[in-house]
Amino acid sequence: MTAAPSGANAQAGTGDMPSAVGEPAMSKVAITVNGEARELDLDTRTTLLDALREHLHLTGTKKGCDHGQCGACTVMVDGQRINSCLTLAVMHEGDTITTIEGLGAPQNLNAMQAAFVKHDGYQCGYCTPGQICSAVAVLDEIRAGIPSHVSGDLTATPQATVAELRERMSGNICRCGAYSNIVEAIAEVAGRPA
Ligand code: FES
Ligand code: FES
Repeated sequence: MTAAPSGANAQAGTGDMPSAVGEPAMSKVAITVNGEARELDLDTRTTLLDALREHLHLTGTKKGCDHGQCGACTVMVDGQRINSCLTLAVMHEGDTITTIEGLGAPQNLNAMQAAFVKHDGYQCGYCTPGQICSAVAVLDEIRAGIPSHVSGDLTATPQATVAELRERMSGNICRCGAYSNIVEAIAEVAGRPA
């Protein structure tokens, strides 16, 4: 939602000059981030990604394209992965958000983070927080029996095959091309050889 120009300002625009806009519409939003209750007062146009990075200073979540095309901004909302650049923070009142910081810390890596380290699943690391959040959610989706585009039998329990992992991770782009190592890391956590 964009802020509507005030009547006075709207009338002030002349010719090709744009009208000045009014003050941004602000809204409070209460969310739980990595187990901590947070309340923010936000311009209603603020994306969830910017709320996390700019307002809560959780900069682990990365801004790659800001257009839903790279997956660098992937976080989990109520357990499901989402591109946080494509959703407004005010749409998440009461939701539970998990970012890479909530999965584990350098001294206490979770299984997926440790597997990425072990298998060299990154080079520059810029895409890595999104890759790991997505990978954790992918295994949850497989465990929940949710089929993908490459699932041969929509009624069978999906398996964490290489084809399934590649398809389900296809929204997460890695400019460094660490894809084969990323698949190996996810397969190890899934308990299957890549
Ligand atoms: S920054 Fe959100 S998909 Fe690229
Ligand atoms: S590790 Fe560099 S973009 Fe993926």
